[in-house]
Amino acid sequence: MSDNHILVERPEAQPGLMVIRFNRPEKKNAITSAMYNRMTAALEEANGDDAIRAVAFLGTEGCFSAGNDMGDFLSYAMSGSREAPAAAVFIKALALAEKPLVSGVDGLAIGIGTTLNLHCDMTIASARSQFKTPFVDLALVPEAASSLLAPKIMGHQRAFAMLVAGEGFSAEAALEAGVIWKIVAPEAVEAETLMLAASLARKPPQALKIARDLVRGPRDAVLARMDEELVHFSAQLKSAEARAAFEAFMRR
Ligand code: COA
Repeated sequence: MSDNHILVERPEAQPGLMVIRFNRPEKKNAITSAMYNRMTAALEEANGDDAIRAVAFLGTEGCFSAGNDMGDFLSYAMSGSREAPAAAVFIKALALAEKPLVSGVDGLAIGIGTTLNLHCDMTIASARSQFKTPFVDLALVPEAASSLLAPKIMGHQRAFAMLVAGEGFSAEAALEAGVIWKIVAPEAVEAETLMLAASLARKPPQALKIARDLVRGPRDAVLARMDEELVHFSAQLKSAEARAAFEAFMRR
């Protein structure tokens, strides 16, 4: 990967913040294994550093992320690899993150570009944002414990519409479903997200951690669901129906 496809910043103006920024706009911020690895390392660094008190995810103008890189899906499918994909390690790091996670979405949020936000404590989005998880259309299944978290957050009907039927959710619909916290103008997404994360970072850290852990509840069920999903996801990734879907995208 180009070293700057994921930018990890500690803005001087916002002490206590780590910003993880997707920066591959020419590919709609599609996420490669190297990008997952960089984000995993950043989350682990944040856990171990008392100076970091909140983490913010941001994308680029008009695009949060178009999800997993399709080329990577195809290579993994063809490789016969039995190793856990980098994405699987990243989503566990998300579930195990100890500092508050905030995200700012402007535009496309597809696949893990949507499910990542289910792990965030607060998400700000622009009205032009679109949340979509076309897992089943790609012959895949939900990941990142979204099959557990989405029904809890949105109720069965909306979770099914998103995760199984592959229906897109506008920012308005995502707000109504409880997937995001607030809608702002596109040009305000970054500033509002950083302001929100910085306000969390200023809170007394011990109380913040205890309160966050209480609200989120135990992580065991989330981690167990990730493992359960991964068994099916990995098998489906290697299926003929999934390979056909990836190849169709690559040939477009
Ligand atoms: N993986 C790899 N490359 C991707 C990508 C992905 N998930 N999403 C977009 N890209 C690439 C395109 O191949 C294209 O590359 P190119 O310019 O070298 O051809 C570039 O990003 C721009 O995308 P494009 O499709 O031309 O833009 P668009 O505005 O017409 O459509 C999307 C944007 C996101 C709707 C469309 O690219 C798409 O459906 N992507 C796949 C999303 C997806 O299913 N992700 C996996 C979910 S599990």
